[in-house]
Amino acid sequence: MEMVKIFDTTLRDGEQSPGASMTIEEKIKVAKQLEKLRVDIIEAGFAAASPGDFEAINMIAKEVKDSTICSLARALEKDIEAAAKAIEPAPLKRIHTFIATSPIHMKYKLRMSPDEVIKRAVDAVKYARSFVDDVEFSCEDAGRSEMSFLKEIISAVIEAGAKTINIPDTVGYRFPTEMGAMIKELVDYFPKDITFSVHCHNDLGLATANSLYSILNGARQVECTINGLGERAGNAALEEIVMAIKVRRDLFDGIDTRINTKEIYPTSRLVASVTGIEPQPNKAIVGRNAFAHESGIHQDGVLKHKETYEIMKAEDIGLDVKDTIVLGKHSGRHAFKKKLEALGFSDISEDELNELFMKFKKLADKKKEIYDEDILALINEASDKTPKVYELISLQLSDCSEGMPSAAAKIKYEDKIFTDAAIGEGTIDAVFKVIDRISGINGRLLDYKVEAVSEGKDALAKVMVKVIFDENKPAVMGHGLSIDTMLASAKAYINALNNYLHMKDLLAKKISYKDSI
Ligand code: KIV
Ligand code: ZN
Repeated sequence: MEMVKIFDTTLRDGEQSPGASMTIEEKIKVAKQLEKLRVDIIEAGFAAASPGDFEAINMIAKEVKDSTICSLARALEKDIEAAAKAIEPAPLKRIHTFIATSPIHMKYKLRMSPDEVIKRAVDAVKYARSFVDDVEFSCEDAGRSEMSFLKEIISAVIEAGAKTINIPDTVGYRFPTEMGAMIKELVDYFPKDITFSVHCHNDLGLATANSLYSILNGARQVECTINGLGERAGNAALEEIVMAIKVRRDLFDGIDTRINTKEIYPTSRLVASVTGIEPQPNKAIVGRNAFAHESGIHQDGVLKHKETYEIMKAEDIGLDVKDTIVLGKHSGRHAFKKKLEALGFSDISEDELNELFMKFKKLADKKKEIYDEDILALINEASDKTPKVYELISLQLSDCSEGMPSAAAKIKYEDKIFTDAAIGEGTIDAVFKVIDRISGINGRLLDYKVEAVSEGKDALAKVMVKVIFDENKPAVMGHGLSIDTMLASAKAYINALNNYLHMKDLLAKKISYKDSI
């Protein structure tokens, strides 16, 4: 069997999706889940991009043992040094360096001649090889590069020590037949011990098709993301590539991946909940409707014989459609534990189980029916390990019909309770203002989203905020969950504040990190 390596870039290219930024703790959680999914390589970030990225890669490198940990680096010494240092603790490590190779990128973006680009690429690969054996080189915008130049630069970087050559269709321009032909020409031209990889963007909705055609033509690594997250229209979706190979064994004869497909659904849910970006309902494989049959004719067919309308089993991606446990306020700890197992959380510790069970009981007191989505939201909330410097104790809102919306809050900080009140332009404004007054840190709200976690009037509200607390520092995200939208909003804002304080701590560390290299 020939194996295709799955290179997951959810934490790097995926995080470049607008609004998809993750905290360090969230990235570690996703990386551990990707390891469970058995991806071959985790591109954990771009170490030189920010201290937060560096820290996240470094911590992932300490935690993950079974997947190779990779950092992206431009073809620059300082990027390669940061990448090497960040991945240093990983048992399996890779540096991924890149430079643009298309005429348009070389002329307008890099302002470099083709010869200068080759020299920079060779120097970068050699330098990366001085830190690690496993070096990948990407020809950025390869999809619009000239074949003769690609052959020239690839020959030079192989000579310099690159073992994996990635051919990105950076702007999602190529068609499957073209991508396949390009890969075939390169695979036939270069020695067999070089792994050719593809990295396809989805601007024309062809990323998965382009990746699959590349595999059929000799690519033995694909770069992809969970739920197809990524820059602009996103990257090829991991779940689509892996399941296409599995379902169409007839076409992919003798080719396989080492992915544990039963972890696809739990991974997709985790990524959706930490990024706040839900896959569209009709998204292939992991969308809410991917295994739902609405039409009477289809329902009838599926009830008579599943394969009339289903080409794969929901169980294969870890979606337990036979899970019949319905939770409510009378459910006990045992049923709750069984539900967690059915949702893919079987390795939860006793302490975590107790904490979650307590939260579930509190919710069940207020809400008639508890859906799987409610439980998943509770799990996600409980797994947020950002230090809770500020904690909401209570919130009281005035009647806003008189045109003077106000909020009073009690907030815990360093074991003391602080109380204050504020008037705002609207109720949410008043809520955020009172938190600013108590913390003494003023936030500027950039984005606010609220969505119902499940069905019904008593659905849990999930609020996401994006806030700037210091104009010289990046914006931070915050999430809050409650049956009451205002409470969820207050919790989300406080969560953003805590994330900001945590980020500030890390930025302080960056000074010592920078001094050390
Ligand atoms: O799309 C792209 O070209 C990339 C490279 C950095 C691999 O993301
Ligand atoms: Zn990309």
